[in-house]
Amino acid sequence: MKGAYLVTGASRGIGKEIAKSIASSGFPVIALARESIDLGVTGAELADINQDSITISCDLSDRADISSAATVISNRFSHLSGIVHNAGTIHPIENMLDVERADWAKSIQVNLIGVQDLTTRLNKILGGDLHTRITTISSGAAKRSIHGWSAYCVSKAGLDMWALCMAEEGASRNISAISIAPGIVDTGMQEDIRNADEKSFPALSNFIDYYTNGDLTNPVDVAEKLLPYCLGNLGENGSRLDVRNL
Ligand SMILES: NC(=O)c1ccc[n+]([C@@H]2O[C@H](COP(=O)([O-])OP(=O)(O)OC[C@H]3O[C@@H](n4cnc5c(N)ncnc54)[C@H](OP(=O)(O)O)[C@@H]3O)[C@@H](O)[C@H]2O)c1
Repeated sequence: MKGAYLVTGASRGIGKEIAKSIASSGFPVIALARESIDLGVTGAELADINQDSITISCDLSDRADISSAATVISNRFSHLSGIVHNAGTIHPIENMLDVERADWAKSIQVNLIGVQDLTTRLNKILGGDLHTRITTISSGAAKRSIHGWSAYCVSKAGLDMWALCMAEEGASRNISAISIAPGIVDTGMQEDIRNADEKSFPALSNFIDYYTNGDLTNPVDVAEKLLPYCLGNLGENGSRLDVRNL
Protein backbone atom coordinates (compact mmCIF):
# COMPACT_ATOMS: atom_id res chain seq x y z
CA MET A 1 0.00 0.00 0.00
CA LYS A 2 1.28 3.53 -0.80
CA GLY A 3 1.65 5.86 2.21
CA ALA A 4 -1.56 7.52 3.30
CA TYR A 5 -2.51 11.21 3.18
CA LEU A 6 -4.54 12.91 5.89
CA VAL A 7 -6.79 15.67 4.56
CA THR A 8 -8.69 17.76 7.12
CA GLY A 9 -11.92 19.50 6.20
CA ALA A 10 -12.55 16.85 3.55
CA SER A 11 -16.35 16.74 3.86
CA ARG A 12 -16.87 19.49 1.27
CA GLY A 13 -15.33 22.41 -0.58
CA ILE A 14 -11.62 22.51 -1.41
CA GLY A 15 -10.71 19.70 1.03
CA LYS A 16 -13.09 17.23 -0.57
CA GLU A 17 -11.65 17.87 -4.03
CA ILE A 18 -8.04 17.65 -2.79
CA ALA A 19 -8.88 14.35 -1.06
CA LYS A 20 -10.35 12.95 -4.29
CA SER A 21 -7.37 14.13 -6.37
CA ILE A 22 -4.89 12.51 -3.96
CA ALA A 23 -6.88 9.26 -3.92
CA SER A 24 -6.96 9.31 -7.74
CA SER A 25 -3.16 9.51 -7.68
CA GLY A 26 -3.14 6.09 -5.97
CA PHE A 27 -2.81 7.03 -2.29
CA PRO A 28 -5.17 6.02 0.52
CA VAL A 29 -6.78 9.13 2.00
CA ILE A 30 -7.88 9.71 5.58
CA ALA A 31 -10.70 12.22 5.22
CA LEU A 32 -11.30 14.13 8.44
CA ALA A 33 -14.20 16.44 9.37
CA ARG A 34 -17.00 16.57 11.93
CA GLU A 35 -19.52 13.77 11.70
CA SER A 36 -22.07 14.51 8.93
CA ILE A 37 -23.86 13.09 5.92
CA ASP A 38 -21.40 15.04 3.75
CA LEU A 39 -18.44 13.23 5.33
CA GLY A 40 -20.19 9.91 4.68
CA VAL A 41 -20.67 10.84 1.02
CA THR A 42 -16.99 11.84 0.72
CA GLY A 43 -16.03 8.51 2.32
CA ALA A 44 -18.08 6.53 -0.19
CA GLU A 45 -16.62 8.47 -3.13
CA LEU A 46 -13.06 7.99 -1.83
CA ALA A 47 -13.56 4.27 -1.24
CA ASP A 48 -14.66 3.95 -4.89
CA ILE A 49 -11.38 5.55 -5.95
CA ASN A 50 -9.08 3.88 -3.39
CA GLN A 51 -10.46 1.13 -1.17
CA ASP A 52 -7.91 1.76 1.61
CA SER A 53 -9.28 5.28 2.19
CA ILE A 54 -11.18 5.97 5.42
CA THR A 55 -13.09 8.80 7.07
CA ILE A 56 -12.54 10.04 10.62
CA SER A 57 -15.08 12.22 12.40
CA CYS A 58 -13.28 14.74 14.51
CA ASP A 59 -14.18 18.21 15.74
CA LEU A 60 -10.94 20.20 15.66
CA SER A 61 -12.29 22.46 18.39
CA ASP A 62 -12.29 19.46 20.75
CA ARG A 63 -8.96 18.27 22.18
CA ALA A 64 -10.33 14.84 23.15
CA ASP A 65 -11.62 14.32 19.61
CA ILE A 66 -8.21 15.20 18.17
CA SER A 67 -6.53 12.77 20.53
CA SER A 68 -8.92 9.92 19.57
CA ALA A 69 -8.56 10.68 15.85
CA ALA A 70 -4.76 10.58 16.10
CA THR A 71 -4.92 7.24 17.93
CA VAL A 72 -7.16 5.69 15.25
CA ILE A 73 -4.89 6.97 12.46
CA SER A 74 -1.63 5.82 14.15
CA ASN A 75 -3.08 2.37 14.83
CA ARG A 76 -4.17 1.94 11.23
CA PHE A 77 -1.30 3.50 9.23
CA SER A 78 2.41 3.01 9.88
CA HIS A 79 3.41 6.15 7.95
CA LEU A 80 1.81 9.29 6.50
CA SER A 81 3.12 10.51 3.15
CA GLY A 82 1.38 13.79 3.77
CA ILE A 83 -1.05 15.93 5.68
CA VAL A 84 -3.15 18.66 4.12
CA HIS A 85 -4.29 20.96 6.92
CA ASN A 86 -7.24 22.38 5.01
CA ALA A 87 -10.07 22.54 7.60
CA GLY A 88 -10.98 26.06 8.55
CA THR A 89 -13.72 28.32 9.78
CA ILE A 90 -14.36 31.97 8.87
CA HIS A 91 -16.52 32.45 12.00
CA PRO A 92 -16.93 34.61 14.00
CA ILE A 93 -17.43 37.52 11.57
CA GLU A 94 -17.72 40.29 14.15
CA ASN A 95 -16.14 43.60 15.11
CA MET A 96 -13.13 42.64 17.21
CA LEU A 97 -14.12 44.81 20.17
CA ASP A 98 -17.56 43.20 20.34
CA VAL A 99 -16.81 39.56 19.61
CA GLU A 100 -17.36 36.92 22.31
CA ARG A 101 -14.09 35.59 23.69
CA ALA A 102 -15.25 31.96 23.32
CA ASP A 103 -16.10 32.42 19.63
CA TRP A 104 -12.77 34.11 18.91
CA ALA A 105 -10.85 31.40 20.80
CA LYS A 106 -12.72 28.62 18.96
CA SER A 107 -11.60 29.99 15.61
CA ILE A 108 -7.96 30.04 16.74
CA GLN A 109 -8.38 26.49 18.09
CA VAL A 110 -9.83 25.08 14.83
CA ASN A 111 -7.65 27.04 12.39
CA LEU A 112 -4.34 26.95 14.26
CA ILE A 113 -4.04 25.11 17.59
CA GLY A 114 -5.85 22.05 16.19
CA VAL A 115 -3.19 21.87 13.44
CA GLN A 116 -0.36 21.81 15.98
CA ASP A 117 -2.21 19.38 18.26
CA LEU A 118 -3.14 16.90 15.52
CA THR A 119 0.32 17.00 13.92
CA THR A 120 2.25 16.45 17.15
CA ARG A 121 -0.03 13.56 18.13
CA LEU A 122 0.86 11.91 14.79
CA ASN A 123 4.57 12.49 15.38
CA LYS A 124 5.52 8.80 15.33
CA ILE A 125 4.18 8.22 11.81
CA LEU A 126 5.70 11.34 10.21
CA GLY A 127 9.03 11.54 8.39
CA GLY A 128 11.91 9.24 9.29
CA ASP A 129 13.01 6.88 6.50
CA LEU A 130 10.08 8.00 4.35
CA HIS A 131 9.27 11.60 3.52
CA THR A 132 6.16 13.42 4.78
CA ARG A 133 4.84 16.58 3.06
CA ILE A 134 2.75 18.89 5.21
CA THR A 135 0.64 21.49 3.40
CA THR A 136 -1.35 24.19 5.15
CA ILE A 137 -4.12 26.01 3.32
CA SER A 138 -3.55 29.71 3.80
CA SER A 139 -5.52 32.79 2.75
CA GLY A 140 -4.95 36.34 1.58
CA ALA A 141 -6.26 37.17 5.08
CA ALA A 142 -2.93 35.92 6.49
CA LYS A 143 -1.30 38.94 4.86
CA ARG A 144 -3.91 41.70 5.15
CA SER A 145 -6.40 42.73 7.82
CA ILE A 146 -10.07 42.48 6.91
CA HIS A 147 -12.61 44.30 9.11
CA GLY A 148 -14.71 41.70 10.96
CA TRP A 149 -12.35 38.78 10.31
CA SER A 150 -9.84 39.33 13.14
CA ALA A 151 -9.87 35.73 14.42
CA TYR A 152 -9.55 34.34 10.88
CA CYS A 153 -6.77 36.80 9.90
CA VAL A 154 -4.81 36.11 13.09
CA SER A 155 -5.22 32.33 12.80
CA LYS A 156 -4.17 32.27 9.13
CA ALA A 157 -1.16 34.54 9.78
CA GLY A 158 -0.22 32.19 12.62
CA LEU A 159 -0.72 29.17 10.39
CA ASP A 160 1.69 30.58 7.78
CA MET A 161 4.33 30.93 10.48
CA TRP A 162 3.46 27.46 11.82
CA ALA A 163 4.26 26.01 8.37
CA LEU A 164 7.56 27.93 8.30
CA CYS A 165 8.50 26.60 11.74
CA MET A 166 7.56 23.07 10.66
CA ALA A 167 9.71 23.50 7.54
CA GLU A 168 12.62 24.60 9.71
CA GLU A 169 12.35 21.87 12.34
CA GLY A 170 11.06 19.13 10.03
CA ALA A 171 13.98 19.29 7.58
CA SER A 172 16.22 17.07 9.71
CA ARG A 173 13.31 14.61 10.20
CA ASN A 174 12.52 14.16 6.47
CA ILE A 175 9.41 16.34 6.79
CA SER A 176 8.79 19.30 4.45
CA ALA A 177 6.12 21.95 4.91
CA ILE A 178 4.59 24.58 2.66
CA SER A 179 1.57 26.87 2.80
CA ILE A 180 -0.65 27.71 -0.16
CA ALA A 181 -3.38 30.34 -0.50
CA PRO A 182 -6.16 28.97 -2.76
CA GLY A 183 -7.58 32.25 -4.14
CA ILE A 184 -11.31 33.00 -3.90
CA VAL A 185 -13.11 29.70 -4.31
CA ASP A 186 -16.81 28.87 -4.72
CA THR A 187 -17.46 26.92 -1.49
CA GLY A 188 -19.64 26.99 1.61
CA MET A 189 -17.16 29.37 3.22
CA GLN A 190 -17.86 32.03 0.56
CA GLU A 191 -21.59 31.50 1.12
CA ASP A 192 -21.07 32.11 4.86
CA ILE A 193 -19.14 35.29 3.99
CA ARG A 194 -21.98 36.54 1.75
CA ASN A 195 -24.44 35.90 4.60
CA ALA A 196 -22.48 38.06 7.07
CA ASP A 197 -23.86 41.29 8.55
CA GLU A 198 -22.52 44.41 6.83
CA LYS A 199 -22.33 46.19 10.23
CA SER A 200 -19.49 43.90 11.27
CA PHE A 201 -18.20 43.24 7.74
CA PRO A 202 -18.08 46.45 5.63
CA ALA A 203 -16.54 44.63 2.62
CA LEU A 204 -19.68 42.48 2.23
CA SER A 205 -20.71 44.01 -1.12
CA ASN A 206 -17.26 43.23 -2.62
CA PHE A 207 -17.71 39.54 -1.84
CA ILE A 208 -21.26 39.55 -3.24
CA ASP A 209 -19.82 41.15 -6.39
CA TYR A 210 -17.08 38.50 -6.69
CA TYR A 211 -19.84 35.90 -6.74
CA THR A 212 -22.25 37.67 -9.12
CA ASN A 213 -19.40 38.64 -11.48
CA GLY A 214 -18.28 34.99 -11.69
CA ASP A 215 -14.89 35.72 -10.11
CA LEU A 216 -14.92 32.66 -7.82
CA THR A 217 -12.89 29.66 -8.95
CA ASN A 218 -14.08 26.09 -8.91
CA PRO A 219 -12.76 23.82 -6.10
CA VAL A 220 -12.05 21.06 -8.66
CA ASP A 221 -9.71 23.37 -10.61
CA VAL A 222 -8.05 24.57 -7.40
CA ALA A 223 -7.46 20.97 -6.24
CA GLU A 224 -5.86 20.15 -9.59
CA LYS A 225 -3.37 23.00 -9.13
CA LEU A 226 -2.70 22.11 -5.49
CA LEU A 227 -2.14 18.39 -6.12
CA PRO A 228 1.59 18.29 -7.08
CA TYR A 229 2.39 20.57 -4.14
CA CYS A 230 0.42 18.42 -1.66
CA LEU A 231 2.18 15.32 -3.05
CA GLY A 232 5.57 17.00 -2.53
CA ASN A 233 6.47 16.87 -6.25
CA LEU A 234 6.60 20.69 -6.40
CA GLY A 235 7.15 23.43 -3.83
CA GLU A 236 10.37 24.07 -1.97
CA ASN A 237 10.37 23.37 1.77
CA GLY A 238 9.22 26.50 3.61
CA SER A 239 7.63 28.20 0.62
CA ARG A 240 4.44 30.25 0.84
CA LEU A 241 2.54 30.07 -2.44
CA ASP A 242 -0.61 31.50 -3.98
CA VAL A 243 -2.63 29.38 -6.42
CA ARG A 244 -3.17 32.48 -8.57
CA ASN A 245 0.59 32.56 -9.31
CA LEU A 246 1.02 28.85 -10.04
N1 LIG B 1 -13.20 29.43 -0.23
C1 LIG B 1 -12.34 30.41 -0.29
O1 LIG B 1 -12.53 31.40 -1.02
C2 LIG B 1 -11.08 30.37 0.52
C3 LIG B 1 -10.16 31.43 0.39
C4 LIG B 1 -8.98 31.40 1.13
C5 LIG B 1 -8.72 30.33 1.96
N2 LIG B 1 -9.63 29.32 2.09
C6 LIG B 1 -9.29 28.23 3.00
O2 LIG B 1 -9.50 26.99 2.36
C7 LIG B 1 -9.81 25.99 3.33
C8 LIG B 1 -11.06 25.23 2.90
O3 LIG B 1 -12.13 26.14 2.87
P1 LIG B 1 -13.44 25.94 1.99
O4 LIG B 1 -13.64 27.19 1.26
O5 LIG B 1 -13.41 24.66 1.26
O6 LIG B 1 -14.52 25.94 3.16
P2 LIG B 1 -15.80 25.05 3.46
O7 LIG B 1 -16.48 24.64 2.22
O8 LIG B 1 -16.54 25.83 4.48
O9 LIG B 1 -15.17 23.74 4.12
C9 LIG B 1 -14.52 23.83 5.36
C10 LIG B 1 -14.10 22.44 5.77
O10 LIG B 1 -13.51 22.55 7.09
C11 LIG B 1 -14.17 21.65 7.96
N3 LIG B 1 -14.28 22.15 9.31
C12 LIG B 1 -14.76 23.35 9.73
N4 LIG B 1 -14.78 23.40 11.06
C13 LIG B 1 -14.29 22.21 11.51
C14 LIG B 1 -14.08 21.66 12.79
N5 LIG B 1 -14.40 22.32 13.90
N6 LIG B 1 -13.57 20.41 12.88
C15 LIG B 1 -13.26 19.70 11.76
N7 LIG B 1 -13.44 20.17 10.52
C16 LIG B 1 -13.97 21.41 10.40
C17 LIG B 1 -15.56 21.48 7.37
O11 LIG B 1 -16.10 20.24 7.78
P3 LIG B 1 -17.43 20.05 8.64
O12 LIG B 1 -18.12 21.38 8.74
O13 LIG B 1 -18.20 19.03 7.86
O14 LIG B 1 -16.90 19.55 9.95
C18 LIG B 1 -15.29 21.48 5.88
O15 LIG B 1 -14.93 20.20 5.43
C19 LIG B 1 -9.97 26.73 4.66
O16 LIG B 1 -8.80 26.61 5.42
C20 LIG B 1 -10.16 28.17 4.23
O17 LIG B 1 -9.73 29.07 5.23
C21 LIG B 1 -10.80 29.30 1.39
